[in-house]
Amino acid sequence: MNQLQRKILFPTPLYYKDIPNSKDLNKYLFKHIKKWRKDCPEGEAKTNSGFGWHSPTDMNNKKEYKPLIDELFKMAEECNKDYGVQPKLGLGNMWANINPTYSYNKTHTHPNSLWSGVYYIKVPKNSGKLFLEDPRPGPNTHMPRRVDNLPEQLWRVCAYEPKEGRIIFFPSWQPHGVDINMNTEKGEKNWRVSVSYNFIQI
Ligand SMILES: [Fe+2]
Repeated sequence: MNQLQRKILFPTPLYYKDIPNSKDLNKYLFKHIKKWRKDCPEGEAKTNSGFGWHSPTDMNNKKEYKPLIDELFKMAEECNKDYGVQPKLGLGNMWANINPTYSYNKTHTHPNSLWSGVYYIKVPKNSGKLFLEDPRPGPNTHMPRRVDNLPEQLWRVCAYEPKEGRIIFFPSWQPHGVDINMNTEKGEKNWRVSVSYNFIQI
């Protein structure tokens, strides 16, 4: 033990999984979400930058989204198991996001929940990475600038390219946001479409 040893303590999990054959599911979901937006154009103002569309948050109570909800519950149980926790889970709320060109989501957390995450339905090129910030206050305020080429576990901000058909889960207290959508194709071609959700203990 006369060489430097390192343990990584208090890790923060980021879970992800791709739904097999998600193309048909995404087509189906996109069709329903577009109709929902038409019926309810005002949506809700949350962390989106003002000109994206954020649906009402009762998506979990709409039967047309059951195919996705079933996949989310499956994955939530897998996350519980991997993380070694056993709360009985319910979907607290769930909503759809349509982020057109230049929209983004500011850094935020999801209070009063256990697991939060996102499912990607439509992801044009350069439409914004998901970023997660180091949740610990210490390293953000007391560590000087670090050297380059550090391993991922030591990054202060981790950003990931979205992928259609991918489900992501993280603890709800994990600060996160979405980079600006820089895709400038015409009309709905530039839309970044996703679904977000909060699992709670019931
Ligand atoms: Fe979020």
